[in-house]
Amino acid sequence: MNSPSPKAARRRHPQARPLLLAAALGLAALGARAGEVEVLHWWTSGGEARAAQALKATLQAKGHTWKDFAVAGGGGDSAMTVLKSRVVSGNAPSAAQIKGPALQEWAREGVLSPIDDVARAERWDELLPKVVADQMKYRGSYIAVPVNVHRVNWLWANPEVFKKAGAKPPTNWDEFFAAADALKKAGVIPLAHGGQNWQDLTLFEAVALGQGGPEFYAKALVQLDPAAIASPTMEKVLATFKRIKPYTDKNAPGRDWNLATGLVIKGEAGMQIMGDWAKGEFLAAGKKPGRDFVCLAAPGAVKTFSYNIDSLAMFALKKDANVKAQKDLAAAVMGAEFQESFNLAKGSIPVRQGVKLDRFDDCAKASAADFAATAKAGTLLPSIAHGMAVSAAAEGAIKDVISNYWNSERMTPADAIKRLLAAAKMR
Ligand code: BGC
Repeated sequence: MNSPSPKAARRRHPQARPLLLAAALGLAALGARAGEVEVLHWWTSGGEARAAQALKATLQAKGHTWKDFAVAGGGGDSAMTVLKSRVVSGNAPSAAQIKGPALQEWAREGVLSPIDDVARAERWDELLPKVVADQMKYRGSYIAVPVNVHRVNWLWANPEVFKKAGAKPPTNWDEFFAAADALKKAGVIPLAHGGQNWQDLTLFEAVALGQGGPEFYAKALVQLDPAAIASPTMEKVLATFKRIKPYTDKNAPGRDWNLATGLVIKGEAGMQIMGDWAKGEFLAAGKKPGRDFVCLAAPGAVKTFSYNIDSLAMFALKKDANVKAQKDLAAAVMGAEFQESFNLAKGSIPVRQGVKLDRFDDCAKASAADFAATAKAGTLLPSIAHGMAVSAAAEGAIKDVISNYWNSERMTPADAIKRLLAAAKMR
């Protein structure tokens, strides 16, 4: 059926004219404020993509156009390389996933834009833990918005595989090796690992925290204190780290982290040590926590928490409509609704305080409780493998040493320590 002409409609409904006018004005207003948001991220695995979809849907619901700028590669090293070339050529996206101390490094370059008006209107100072708020600010101004809190030092296990192997989920490193032996005997890969430098460092920091303890971790891997790096504890941690290698499989080199999670999901491997973005993969595969998979603190790490906070840094933009879209993005990301939907898919917990966790699973509830408890006890620590602890230069150099050590037949813990001492100078 043809739609009636506005004139005919007005004849039948005299009030239609003002209504049509209002509708037209409304659309014009929406058109004027609608902009484009381009967000650089590396959320491309099954669970990550579901979370990224929540971000896209939130912006589209506000009338903006979403331009996806996804650069695959866990840990984000490739994404950072691409981002640098885009910014250098004067073509920055609206926002990019930049985290930890790197936020300050980017802000110093003068390419980020303050979003204090949004932060003030949305009361971010009241809604964020102070340590997080401080990290999002440069010279007192918010230049980034935090998305979530990931816990890095988790162990994910397949309970059915453990049962078949007669193995007990480990709570410390001795138990880890006992379980790994039992899993090996049962013909499964004990530990699913992907031999990429950021995954090697993720595993190494779990050993450093679980075996060396929080004080050692803070001194050696956050403060980069030479005495802690050269200590007998570091030697022991390096030896334990290397002892894990025979429990990984020969196809580990180069494997993506989500494919490693896939091995645990399929029951081809018993465990994975990885941040809780791995939970996003289990959930995306339709698996239920507590039934199909379990989450445990990484061995020896019950009372510690290594955190990784995803955040979106805001770049200086020229077009007003795009600035408006960027501000809507920042406001939406800190909104309670988004914090729930994004984090349910991502495997993380909301960074905004006071969001109800009713719809979250027990792993997320444990994570939230441990985050609060470790913050109080002083054992809440930044993840070095995920850009939370040290400068990008030091992190990169340490990553290389740890991977070289992991892959070398000859390098001893003492050799690795010498190289770590040199890497720690890259501040
Ligand atoms: C990011 C996560 C991401 C993970 C794997 C981490 O560094 O913070 O958001 O899911 O890498 O790609």
